[in-house]
Amino acid sequence: MKALPFPLDHIGIAVENLEASISYYRDTFGFALDIRELVPSQKVEVAFVSLANTKIELLAATDSDSTLAKFLRERGPGLHHICYRVPNIEVELARLKAAGIRLIDEKPRPGAHHTRIAFLHPKSTQGVLTELCQANAP
Ligand code: CO
Repeated sequence: MKALPFPLDHIGIAVENLEASISYYRDTFGFALDIRELVPSQKVEVAFVSLANTKIELLAATDSDSTLAKFLRERGPGLHHICYRVPNIEVELARLKAAGIRLIDEKPRPGAHHTRIAFLHPKSTQGVLTELCQANAP
C-alpha cells in the first residue's frame, strides 16, 4: 500500500450557480467538464472540472438546509475544501484520529463518482476543511 504523501485529488469550491461556474472555468481557464452529479448524502450537486494536472469540484447546494447552503450564507462563494486521495480511508481516519485530528465523519460516506469520502474538522486542520477520498474498485 502506498504510504504518505498522498496525492491531492481536488480542490472544492462552493458556488451559487453551478451552470455559471462551469461556464466560467471552461471559458476563462479552459477547464474540461468531467462529471456532473447529485450527491444526496450531502444535499449538493457537484461538477468536476479539470486541467491536465488538477481537478476542481464545484459544489452547489440543492437544499437550503444543507451544510453547504449554510456555508454559502455565512461566507459566500469561494474555497471550500481540499481533498487527498487515500488508498484505505478507514486506516487513514483511524491514524488521524489517533494523532488528535478531529473527524467530522467517523465513518466514510458515499461521495461523487463512486468514491467514499470523509471530512476532517477545520479547527484541527489549520483552518482548512479537509476531505479524504478513496476510489471504490470499478
Ligand atoms: Co470534494
